[in-house]
Amino acid sequence: MSKLPIFPLTARVSNQGHLIVGGCDTVELATEFGTPLYIFDEFSLRSKCTEFREQFGRRYKNILIIYAAKAFINRALALILNEEGLGLDVVSGGELGIAQSVGFPLDRVYFHGNNKSAEEIRLALKWRVGRIVVDNFYELAMLDKMANEQGYIPDILLRLSPGVDPHTHKYIATGVVDSKFGFPLSSGEEAIAQAMSASNLNLVGLDFHLGSLIFDAEPYQQAIELIVNLAAEMKDKYGFELKELNVGGGFAIQYSLDSPAPPVSLYAEVITSKIVSKCRELKLILPRLIIEPGRAIVGQAGVALYKVGVVKDIPGIRCYVSVDGGMADNIRPALYGAKYEAVVANKLLEKEAGEVTIAGKFCESGDIIVKGINLPPVSAGDIIAIPSCGAYCLPLASNYNASLKPAVTLVKEGKVRLIRQRETFDDLTRCDLV
Ligand code: LLP
Repeated sequence: MSKLPIFPLTARVSNQGHLIVGGCDTVELATEFGTPLYIFDEFSLRSKCTEFREQFGRRYKNILIIYAAKAFINRALALILNEEGLGLDVVSGGELGIAQSVGFPLDRVYFHGNNKSAEEIRLALKWRVGRIVVDNFYELAMLDKMANEQGYIPDILLRLSPGVDPHTHKYIATGVVDSKFGFPLSSGEEAIAQAMSASNLNLVGLDFHLGSLIFDAEPYQQAIELIVNLAAEMKDKYGFELKELNVGGGFAIQYSLDSPAPPVSLYAEVITSKIVSKCRELKLILPRLIIEPGRAIVGQAGVALYKVGVVKDIPGIRCYVSVDGGMADNIRPALYGAKYEAVVANKLLEKEAGEVTIAGKFCESGDIIVKGINLPPVSAGDIIAIPSCGAYCLPLASNYNASLKPAVTLVKEGKVRLIRQRETFDDLTRCDLV
């Protein structure tokens, strides 16, 4: 079965058997920019933005799509997202600073975080971010006080943890009862009452985020049911108006041939129909809907390229193909047991010759990128391309073994643009004091 459909939408094979993305030959890109190299396909990126806008927009009028910056953000990407009319979910002063540095409209920024610092809150208030998503009682009190000091009343959402199991890896399930994120549903009433009576805060709605890589849309329905029920109760009791409902992100993408992801249209249908029916049943006005996709926007657009070095065959055991990157630029296999596909980018027309394991170059036995994959004969100098690397690889990258974080390029219609340069040895010592 062809692996091309997991690669960016523009992926094709050249006559020479090279992987082409965005009209650029990936083997040439690897030579020009060095490896490991991350490439992003601008067409795939923008198509996903359009797909979310259209699929949700045609079913629900009042909607804002905000991209979850934690999946990957840099200045060039922030500019593209702005052109696409998306908002931004940030979780730190750093992400907020990147957005601000390119003039991203901060009224479309939602500020999340389970332990925002006073400095971060001060910055968010000073820069008038669109919404502060309040996570807990401590933050609620601190924000009220700081807003008073700054003489500015921010619009806020309250993040609730609905206690719904999203059936994903436990490290990326967030909306369960035992979670560090959000007000447990059982204290939702108290949170709403406190927020409504805080004189320096304007409560506009509620928020939940169930987790990430959720292949099943049903948990969203369960959570909407619980949160909208609570909103209706709070309306009766305190006159609370649910003007805005943020259902978070978590939409899955395909990483391997045997785990296809549902289309965006399915999530859109399930989520919007549930909100409409529930609000109708409880006689509530339809709130503005916010969704926060991260992975589903950038995941497929990104490809990681590595160069093969050592090929070590242990007869009867395993053949290790070692490449020049690994867990420092993609920790997901080691951290979550994430499964990836791979191709030899310069040998796409050659037949598979047997199973190999693609290993990284870092000093950990767990530094394996793909365990057991059928590839054509691989030798030193070949270029390995891994699809679905656009989300959560670079943001989780480290300088382990004093390695240099990779260069990042953007490809479009045969043109390439460097959007982040490879780190240098100077970067490694820049903050050191002797
Ligand atoms: N909104 C909130 C409040 C979030 O915490 C997240 C992700 C998102 C939206 C976006 O979720 P997405 O649409 O990307 O699934 N490092 C992990 C994923 C961590 C997700 C953290 N929160 C991974 O590599 O799988």
